[in-house]
Amino acid sequence: MTKEPKFDCIGKNSGKSPVNNIPPLDLTQQYQQIQTEVEQSVLEVLSSGRYIGGATVANFEQQFADYIGTTHSISCNSGTDALYLTLRALNIGPGDEVITTPFTFIATAEVLSLAGATPVFVDIDESFNLDVNQVEAAITPKTKAIIPVHLFGRPVPMTQLMAIATAHNLYVIEDCAQATGATWNNQRIGSIGHVGCFSFFPTKNLGACGDGGAVTTNDPAIAAQIRMLKEHGSKVRYVHDEVGVNSRLDALQAAILSIKLRHLDAWNQGRALVAARYHQLLQPLNDIIAPPETPGGQTVWNQYTIRVRIEGQTDASVRDHLRGQLQERGISSMVYYPLPLHLQPVFASLGYQPGHLPAAERAADEVLSLPMFPELTLDQQQQVVYGLKDCLLAKAAVGFLRS
Ligand SMILES: Cc1ncc(COP(=O)(O)O)c(C=O)c1O
Repeated sequence: MTKEPKFDCIGKNSGKSPVNNIPPLDLTQQYQQIQTEVEQSVLEVLSSGRYIGGATVANFEQQFADYIGTTHSISCNSGTDALYLTLRALNIGPGDEVITTPFTFIATAEVLSLAGATPVFVDIDESFNLDVNQVEAAITPKTKAIIPVHLFGRPVPMTQLMAIATAHNLYVIEDCAQATGATWNNQRIGSIGHVGCFSFFPTKNLGACGDGGAVTTNDPAIAAQIRMLKEHGSKVRYVHDEVGVNSRLDALQAAILSIKLRHLDAWNQGRALVAARYHQLLQPLNDIIAPPETPGGQTVWNQYTIRVRIEGQTDASVRDHLRGQLQERGISSMVYYPLPLHLQPVFASLGYQPGHLPAAERAADEVLSLPMFPELTLDQQQQVVYGLKDCLLAKAAVGFLRS
């Protein structure tokens, strides 16, 4: 029988229609800050007649490589393509195993199947990232690479991971989709592994006004291979060495990204301030676990993700009900991710069962991402936390958990 959550909000706003709408993310405020610059450069591209490739794209690639601290940056159509092109360039395919996290967006592992390789999922730690201490035990003679995902903007401990990879002669492909600008040991993520893969999906820290992605690397041979594969497997026009794809960042997106890149550090600092305020505001709430600090690295807070653990207990239906109660007050929140990848239907043939990766499964039942964007005000954050507090104060919630 399905348990019907019984708890309800109490407090001054209980049962009332929302007083305010607080979105998970508001891109319109960011746009207003850069509107003049963006519109001018978009018009320049439009009147140039050069919509694909050309100087605008090349300039952005150079600026992005300089920002990340690599010698090469190759733009492409999406973060998914960045990962797929990398696997192809590294000759990772049938018969190869790649170690990654089960707690990430589907694209991280989907590309492995697309390339014909086998994902090997290793559990996460309290930070939601791959538990680096468990990686070595998952290495087999078939292992070719590790894909750490810097989830929610938090860097994976790269020093330890690189030492393991070097000892076993494995590639490290950093999935940096959610962490543009984050650092580990004062080095930008995306410049530490053999390859970094970035997404410029609009919700990312550096987001385009459409799809986009990039690969960063210090290895000229890998860079050349990716460039060839993204252009239909061609180095010389109309001569095709391999089966490639069409994966281009268009000039309009490149022009917009060049402008946004100049603001990225300031926006990431804004996110850090929002995160620091959440830490403080959430402290009195016993049933909420704030995301942990990152010793050794700098997080860029693509998401601010809490754990809901009422009286120490994990229950996805309570978390989901709490989310619904917040929504009734006009406070948006998101669940990234409700089902870990090892239990996704698409990966059923890999043979994982519930209980195999308990930390990821528990995270899936506990996580709640609160509104997070640089322009979020203290007043809005207070409303979010007061809303949470009111809902959690409801004694019926505890009754539900004990029933
Ligand atoms: C961790 C992670 N990897 C890869 C991707 C894929 O990026 P894109 O949507 O640009 O294909 C995303 C996008 O959401 C992501 O969050």
